[in-house]
Amino acid sequence: MSVTVRVPAKVNVQLAVGAARPDGYHDLANVFLAVGLYDEVTVTESDELRVTCEGPDADQVPLDRTNLAARAAEALAARYGRTPDVHIHIAKDIPVAGGMAGGSADGAGALLACDALWGTGASRAELLEICAELGSDVPFSLIGGAALGTGRGEQLTVLDVGGTFHWVFALADRGLSTPAVFREFDRLVEGTDVPEPVASRDVLQALAKGDPDALAAAVSNDLQPAALSLFPTLADTLTAGRAAGALTALVSGSGPTTAFLARDPESAAKVAETLRTSGTCRTVRTASGPAPGATVTTGR
Ligand code: C5P
Repeated sequence: MSVTVRVPAKVNVQLAVGAARPDGYHDLANVFLAVGLYDEVTVTESDELRVTCEGPDADQVPLDRTNLAARAAEALAARYGRTPDVHIHIAKDIPVAGGMAGGSADGAGALLACDALWGTGASRAELLEICAELGSDVPFSLIGGAALGTGRGEQLTVLDVGGTFHWVFALADRGLSTPAVFREFDRLVEGTDVPEPVASRDVLQALAKGDPDALAAAVSNDLQPAALSLFPTLADTLTAGRAAGALTALVSGSGPTTAFLARDPESAAKVAETLRTSGTCRTVRTASGPAPGATVTTGR
């Protein structure tokens, strides 16, 4: 018996970052938008817990117990007093270490898939609690759509979205480590007064209206200077996308994927084509959002 779950990537249309907390995390005002790039996680009953992965970046995915999908199966099994003996197969389409919550997607996907396979009867609230233990972005991967994340990003308020936003994503030739980007943020703001992170009214209104021009004017990412400091050539990718007609260009989350908002699918295709031949990125993808959260597609 096996269960397959499809889980979306995310882009942050606002990422406001506060000062480092005593526990090392940062308080955030994190406006997530799920976009239609998906990983598919299939769990099958097996003799022991193991993880396999397919896809262009599969060789960069850890297959041991550090994989969030493995940790999700272990966490759910521990809670229900059973062994996590499943084969988890990840069909990976979300960039690895790219700032699009690919690892979080696999955690949320494996959790929902194991839950369906084992018929635990866990409530949505319980699943979200386990997601928050796995990582700050994992709860959002489960719910999808659009949401404001506060605390370390795991406390979610669902947001209204009044339309479809069309995005182009430029993938870099290497990843960035999220903790390293937060450490660089700390270094860059050292000695300054870091304001409390607050959700931008303009971002929320633009999402609610489904207005790409208003959203383009309002997006922000406090991690962008840190990502650019660690990966300076991303500035060339941002410039190339803007010159190609994107309404706005920003680093996605902790990067290094860069995100370009377009007014419509035709304009997105044009920006994508120009970026593809710009020599400033490894590959280019288009996707629109909001996209649904983790969803069981086949299985029991
Ligand atoms: O929660 P998660 O394990 O995904 O976070 C990965 C790393 O990102 C943390 O270890 C921390 O360095 C950084 N982080 C942070 N503040 C947050 C979320 C993540 O500093 N709100």
